[in-house]
Amino acid sequence: MCLKLNTKFLEKFISKEDYLKLEKKVKSVFKALHLKTGLGNEFLGWLDLPENYDKKEISEINKISEELKLSTEVLIVIGVGGSYLGSKACIEFLKSQNYNLSKKDTPDIFFVGNNLSADYINEILKICKNKNVSISVISKSGNTLEVLTVFSIFKKFLEKKYNKKELKKRIFIITSDNSNKLRNLAFKESYRIFYIPKDIGGRYSVLTPAGLFPIAVCGGNVNLILGGAKKARKDFLKNNLNNLCNKYAVIRNIMYRKGEIIEILVGYEPCLFSLFEWWKQLFAESEGKNQKGLFPSSCIFTTDLHSLGQYIQDGPKILFETNLIIKKTKTNKYKKISDLNKKAFEATILAHSSDGVPNIILNLNNNSEFELGYLIYFFQKSCAISGYLLDINPFDQPGVKKYKDNLNNTMILN
Ligand code: PA5
Repeated sequence: MCLKLNTKFLEKFISKEDYLKLEKKVKSVFKALHLKTGLGNEFLGWLDLPENYDKKEISEINKISEELKLSTEVLIVIGVGGSYLGSKACIEFLKSQNYNLSKKDTPDIFFVGNNLSADYINEILKICKNKNVSISVISKSGNTLEVLTVFSIFKKFLEKKYNKKELKKRIFIITSDNSNKLRNLAFKESYRIFYIPKDIGGRYSVLTPAGLFPIAVCGGNVNLILGGAKKARKDFLKNNLNNLCNKYAVIRNIMYRKGEIIEILVGYEPCLFSLFEWWKQLFAESEGKNQKGLFPSSCIFTTDLHSLGQYIQDGPKILFETNLIIKKTKTNKYKKISDLNKKAFEATILAHSSDGVPNIILNLNNNSEFELGYLIYFFQKSCAISGYLLDINPFDQPGVKKYKDNLNNTMILN
């Protein structure tokens, strides 16, 4: 298995009885998930996606990525929430936070449409000025205001640079196969469309073209990512407490019931930063409902040990830490630094747990595509089970919808 869970530092906080009390319930929600009888069961397409994905579509994505290597210096991804966090997370995990600055034969990538800052857009447009640019617009609903607004700006920018024929080779729409503003425009202009399956929600869509297209363009091997997810799907089919997804979900539930209402995902590699942002969206949007749910937070150590570390050590005892440790670094160089990083982890976990902060460890072998796919599937399935343990629907987002509706109404009023 490429992922292992170590609960050594949890033993004094959780008893065997705590686990046993939840055994029956976790087995029953696991069953409901697989029989598709639970809440939100119309959004379970991600569960078997690693087996069922559209192979033709993936080879098309790979083919286009090769073409874009030659034609494109900058890829602009326009999307928000689940429509950009997954690809950003994977590209940084596989390559680096400094991907754009590195020497490579793939395009730079910039993410827009995830804010409404005029300065930010202006800055990216300036960067693009004398470059060959392609655009990928990603929105499952095809109606999200930030995305459509920012797309209209970048579309105009591209129209000034290229003729209609060339635009068709440079604008890629990723949406659902429902009538929506984005899909309708794509039909009208004959832009290339990739589809997000109807039964997969935004934050579960990283293994669909929504995540895979930008990853492939940036040189990630999407077949290997799907291979890792496929292995995880197989590994996590058994309905018992040894199943890592069940176990992690149960631990989270016990922590929540004991009043540790914040989970901090901790890592010691900066390339995990955006993966943690993706994880926060997955869990916050899935579980924060009906006045329930752990608040997902994240830290990169040792950086945050010099700021948030103080609160974790001595602040209110309302949190626990999940350490995501990558065993093998990408480089073989600087062994001394890697040893020191390991020592920092050991010192921190000892310090925190000795002062009453529960800790668990997820050990991942390395930063490869395969491990990444495995990890993504693990978190997605754990999240679904964890949500069901709280008796909420992990697949809707009524709170996000409220804000979106208000913003749309404001636009209409003005
Ligand atoms: O998980 C979700 O459903 C949301 O966070 C969406 O991903 C986000 O709101 C963007 O929506 P859309 O892809 O429809 O533009």
